[in-house]
Amino acid sequence: MAKRVLILPGDGIGPEVMAQVRRLLDRIGGFSIDEGLVGGAAYDAHGTPLHDDTLAEALKADAVLLGAVGGPKWDTLPFADKPERGLLRLRKDMDLFANLRPALVFDALAGASTLKTDLVRGLDIMIVRELTGGVYFGEPRGIEALPNGERRGVNTQVYTTSEIVRVARVAFELARKRDRRVCSVEKANVMESGLLWREEVQTLHDADYADVALSHMYADNCAMQLVRQPKQFDVIVTDNLFGDLLSDCAAMLTGSLGMLPSASLGAEDADGRRKALYEPVHGSAPDIAGRDKANPMACILSASMMLRYSFDRTAEADLIDRACQEVLNAGIRTGDIVEPGMTPVGTVAMGDAVLAAMDRLSGA
Ligand code: NAD
Ligand code: IPM
Ligand code: MN
Repeated sequence: MAKRVLILPGDGIGPEVMAQVRRLLDRIGGFSIDEGLVGGAAYDAHGTPLHDDTLAEALKADAVLLGAVGGPKWDTLPFADKPERGLLRLRKDMDLFANLRPALVFDALAGASTLKTDLVRGLDIMIVRELTGGVYFGEPRGIEALPNGERRGVNTQVYTTSEIVRVARVAFELARKRDRRVCSVEKANVMESGLLWREEVQTLHDADYADVALSHMYADNCAMQLVRQPKQFDVIVTDNLFGDLLSDCAAMLTGSLGMLPSASLGAEDADGRRKALYEPVHGSAPDIAGRDKANPMACILSASMMLRYSFDRTAEADLIDRACQEVLNAGIRTGDIVEPGMTPVGTVAMGDAVLAAMDRLSGA
């Protein structure tokens, strides 16, 4: 039976990059695709960044693909109406606690990184970011007026043992399919939630994953190590906020934020299936939106992750990944990854090139 995919293009460059993904999924076939609104687009249509009906659709779908949300038009809205709340509610209500953000350097792009080529060539890191807890969702939160006329902004970093253990388990399982090394990142030196994180990850390791090498690192050091010697890492597991920061940092190792895909996964059900949402790590890029400039690869590679993780369609996922590789090898680049001597192409032309490479590689 055709797999049900809900596509939520969102705002800014979201619809532009998603249009290229749509062409690619239509070519591959086997999906029943619905489109919906999220973020500012949903707010403009329904007065809310995520309509209950869209959430219900997302919960029913076999996978959700999301573009990006946000933009200056909605920046002054009250917190609850902001586009970003739509995405956060999807993550929370679908219980997508494990966010996989692979930072993989395509050979052709080693020279496009702002770091020295030797430091990044062959880089393959998997950041596992906790996505439904921590300071993003902790209570109490808010802005309150104090009797002395000051205002106080409050957010709370909070983690329970089960929240830590379930995301750490995902990291250890992934490591077993890779280089069997996990680096757990927190600030156990200054935060109790970080100390609990460290203790729980260590206990889980000793009980169930002694075959995986576990190390612990403070988040500030990790940010430094990522740009100093990134290849020391295999799997990094960390909390919601540190994972947000460290994955943007890792993105630049790959050449551009426009290259980084992600998968957000929920718990396994009785059939071994997980709820899942796939999205590029980048945002709506208001500075280049509507100008056919965005790199669609992060979104295309997110679709490839969907085929791999949700649908076991490994051959097609490999085909997409290889097509992207071939296009980059041929020097076809959007502005964010262009190198001296190359002329940048637009979003649509990049989509054309990936589709053509898929045709060539599959002999179609
Ligand atoms: P951003 O990721 O949108 O852009 C940062 C920089 O990277 C910009 O210069 C942009 O042009 C560039 N960039 C990003 N994606 C690119 C691509 N595919 N191709 C080429 N260049 C690309 O981050 P920002 O500017 O801090 O945020 C803009 C808006 O996006 C905000 O409203 C923010 O909340 C939102 N945002 C959404 C998501 C998401 O939907 N998952 C993620 C991050 C930011
Ligand atoms: C991301 C984004 C989001 C986050 C925002 C848009 C809610 O930065 O997906 O990395 O902070 O998680
Ligand atoms: Mn982010």
